[in-house]
Amino acid sequence: MNTATIASRPELLRRLHHVDPYEGFDPSPWPLDLQGWNGQSPFFAELIDALDPQLVIEVGTWKGQSAVTMAKALQRRGPGRALVCVDTWLGAVEFIGKHDDPERALGMTHGYPGVYYQFLANVVHEGCDDVIVPFAQTSVNAARWFLQHGVQADLIYIDGSHEENDVLFDLTYYWQVAKPGAVLFGDDLGWSGVHAAVASFAAQNGVEWRTRDGNYWVMRKPG
Ligand SMILES: C[S@@+](CC[C@H](N)C(=O)[O-])C[C@H]1O[C@@H](n2cnc3c(N)ncnc32)[C@H](O)[C@@H]1O
Repeated sequence: MNTATIASRPELLRRLHHVDPYEGFDPSPWPLDLQGWNGQSPFFAELIDALDPQLVIEVGTWKGQSAVTMAKALQRRGPGRALVCVDTWLGAVEFIGKHDDPERALGMTHGYPGVYYQFLANVVHEGCDDVIVPFAQTSVNAARWFLQHGVQADLIYIDGSHEENDVLFDLTYYWQVAKPGAVLFGDDLGWSGVHAAVASFAAQNGVEWRTRDGNYWVMRKPG
């Protein structure tokens, strides 16, 4: 498998999507709404400037706040870089039934969440569609696909489920998806499930990790 080829945005789009997801998409019914969590920290651009990644994977995108921040940092570094956004766009367990919560409402239409379209519209409104490749899938299935297709990322942001077992699964799978020397980082260290999973994954695998601002956790795969 030629990983250099499959890391490119056109090849990822071709393999993941029968039709380009942006083709014919009209974002106008969804005005810009980048509500999200901790997705606008300067830390994202600092990491991207330090690593100059060609391929970034985000696990947990929601409406695209952190994705847009990272995509703009990638654009500033030059063309040819890709950010794959992995999310079911079905929310996490704490989102279920929060129909009146402006931060967690899933935009149900005929019984199915519609927040994916708000995300896609935000990407277009912010001019990031030349970088972002949506991948609507569970984190674990997406990781399995990356592994089966030899896709390896330079930088991986994990911000999906915050349940301890789920975060452990994400860390276990995405550690394999990370290139040697790649950085994995994530949000919400203040959540007990996130903290417990990060600490136990690091201890079990002899990996050092640090925090940034007490909110983000960061670990580097040996090169
Ligand atoms: C905290 S939000 C992500 C916030 C986003 N990074 C931002 O900047 O606002 C968590 C997201 O993870 C997604 N998610 C939760 N569990 C998941 C799973 N097992 N696989 C894929 N996505 C998942 C949810 O649908 C939700 O959109």
